Amino acid sequence: MEVTEKDRMEGSVHLSADGRAVEIIDQTQLPNRHILLQLTTVDEMYDAIRRLAVRGAPAIGICAGYSMYVLSLGQESGNYGSFLRNMTAYGEKLISSRPTAVNLSWAVRRMLRLIETHSGTPVHELIGLLHDEAIAIHTEDIEMCYRIAEYGLSLVKPGDGILTHCNAGPLATSKYGTATGPIFLGHERGIDFHVFSDETRPLLQGARLTSYELQRAGIDVTLICDNMASMVMKNGWVQAVFVGCDRIAANGDFANKIGTSGVAILAKHYGIPFYTLGPRSTIDLSTPTGDEINIELRNPDEIKTMWYKEPMALPEVKCYNPSFDVTDHSLVTAIVTDRGIVYPPFEENLRKIMEDKE
Ligand code: MRU
Repeated sequence: MEVTEKDRMEGSVHLSADGRAVEIIDQTQLPNRHILLQLTTVDEMYDAIRRLAVRGAPAIGICAGYSMYVLSLGQESGNYGSFLRNMTAYGEKLISSRPTAVNLSWAVRRMLRLIETHSGTPVHELIGLLHDEAIAIHTEDIEMCYRIAEYGLSLVKPGDGILTHCNAGPLATSKYGTATGPIFLGHERGIDFHVFSDETRPLLQGARLTSYELQRAGIDVTLICDNMASMVMKNGWVQAVFVGCDRIAANGDFANKIGTSGVAILAKHYGIPFYTLGPRSTIDLSTPTGDEINIELRNPDEIKTMWYKEPMALPEVKCYNPSFDVTDHSLVTAIVTDRGIVYPPFEENLRKIMEDKE
């Protein structure tokens, strides 16, 4: 597909019209308010990622790319040494905002590598290179999502029921999304599915974002609570599970929104194929298994108070609020990437697609 400026502007993250800020849709406000935020400082960028104003592994990566470019604009008067030093410090700060999705560090390191490989280049030229690299990260994500959508579409047939967890749609990526990419692409081509969207406790990405995106696109979506997935599967209403991913380890274990591994276990029980869909920027061969993935722990208030008029638990009650869980590769039917559908044995086949130079 040919990616245009219009495609990039339609996403949840892009450069502002004057090119001096990262503009994001504040995803914490959806579906009730569509608010754009402009991020110009590293603290604003860190905070937007940390509190999930921008979220979804690929969208965080795109945001990190643009953030590095925007931050470089404040370094115009420096020399190469100070530029590299300051940009490295900004990059480290951004990476520290959320630990699990590999796309964040992947994008920051890609931007820093560009500076390092152009050692001694005048700063104004480096800034131009960073601009183009940030645009490339965004453009590639749109292309990758399109290819993932094509591959995913080949795994289902018209009228199938598809269950998804969390939000891996356009808001979380760029155009199409990953897990919901086949659904949006199918819809464009007149192929319709019935989608079940888990509400996705505790931050309700499925209710607030996935059902919003699908409903607005005119796609048949039914919102369910997380604990209803077993019932809809048992009823025979689900022919495939499509979920996104935040980091895929070398052996095919992958981290995704908390609750994903439970969905995978249910799918196995009911004999339903379970797929995770993600770009190659989510595959991390340096992490051998899911056991080595750093799982983010979040504020207990997200469980106790955030969505309620009154607290739903005593303030002193202990909470455990992991943002992600790891799905064991043995529960995964296939991993759908922008370079094709990867079947077990994952260790061998993931390595092959990562070595594939096009
Ligand atoms: O905490 P979030 O909302 O950033 O978690 C997002 C997910 O778990 C998504 O499924 C994943 O990032 C893939 S988005 C294409």
